[in-house]
Amino acid sequence: MSGTIVIENIQGHDVSEDMIVEAAELFSSNYGIWGPFAEERMGTFGRFCKPGRPVKMSKNRLREQSLAPGTDSVLVRATVDGKLAGHAFATFWEHEGHKIGWITQLCVGQNFRRNGLATKILSHLRENKHDHSFGILSSHPATIRAALRAFGHGIEQVDLSGIKALIPAIMKSSPVPYVKMATPTGSLFDQGDQTGAVCCADTAFWVDHAEPLAALNVIKEDGIKWPFGDLPDGCEFLAFSTTTHDAEDLMDPRVM
Ligand SMILES: CC(C)(COP(=O)(O)OP(=O)(O)OC[C@H]1O[C@@H](n2cnc3c(N)ncnc32)[C@H](O)[C@@H]1OP(=O)(O)O)[C@@H](O)C(=O)NCCC(=O)NCCS
Repeated sequence: MSGTIVIENIQGHDVSEDMIVEAAELFSSNYGIWGPFAEERMGTFGRFCKPGRPVKMSKNRLREQSLAPGTDSVLVRATVDGKLAGHAFATFWEHEGHKIGWITQLCVGQNFRRNGLATKILSHLRENKHDHSFGILSSHPATIRAALRAFGHGIEQVDLSGIKALIPAIMKSSPVPYVKMATPTGSLFDQGDQTGAVCCADTAFWVDHAEPLAALNVIKEDGIKWPFGDLPDGCEFLAFSTTTHDAEDLMDPRVM
C-alpha cells in the first residue's frame, strides 16, 4: 500500500459530525452483506436486511452503538493520503477493578485490506492502555487475527482456557448493549454444544458468512491452527486478551 498513513485517536466527545458521517459511509460501503436468514430473523428491522444487500449503518445508529453518551469511548481513524481507509471504535469500563476495552467496530476499506492496517489501528488503540484487557466479537477471522496480533501474541499462541471463567461476567457488565446481551456459545462454555463452535457468542447478527468462511479456509490451507471452531449463523467469534496483571489476579492464564 503506497501513500502516507496517519492514525489518530479521538475521544468520543471530540468525534465531529463529519467524522461520524465518514465512518458510517466507510462501514456501509465496505462491511459485508446480509445473510440468508437476516430478513426473517431481524424482526421489525427485517425489511432493511434483504439477503445479499450491503449491511448499512446510519450515523445516528453508529453513535448510539459505539459512542453512547456516558460511556468512555474512542474512535481510531486511519487515513491514507488524507482519505479515510479504516477505523475502530472501542468502549472502556471497569469490572471488579479490572480495566476492560471492547472493540465495538473495526472496518478497513476494501482497497486497503491485507496490508496490516487493521492490526496497526488496533495497536494504536492499545498504546497507553497496556493495563487493559481487550475483547472483540467478529464473524471475520481476519479481525480476530488482527486483535490477537495487536493485543496478544498472534493466532499462533492462543490459549482459550482462561476465557470460560472470565468472559460471561465481563460481557454482562458491559455498557455496550450488544455485548451485554450476547450469549457466549460453543464447547468452551457448554460441553454439550453440538454446533462445532468452540469460542463464539450468539449476537443475533445475521450477516452473510461466505467471505469470513473463505478467509477461514485460507487460514486452514495455510496450516494455521484455528481454535475458535465453526461459526454458526447469527454468531460471531469471540476473542479476549487479559493483561498479565489481571490474569494473575483472576487466576487465569493469558488468553492470547
Ligand atoms: C477484517 C478486516 C478488518 C481486516 O483488515 P485488514 O487491514 O485487511 O487486516 P490486516 O491486514 O491487519 O490482517 C490481520 C490478520 O488477518 C490476516 N488476514 C487479513 N485478511 C485475510 C483474509 N481475507 N483471509 C485470511 N487472513 C486474512 C492477515 O494475514 C493478518 O494475520 P496475522 O497477523 O496473523 O499474520 C477487513 O477485512 C474488514 O474490514 N472486513 C469487513 C468488516 C468486518 O468484518 N469487520 C469486523 C467486524 S467487528
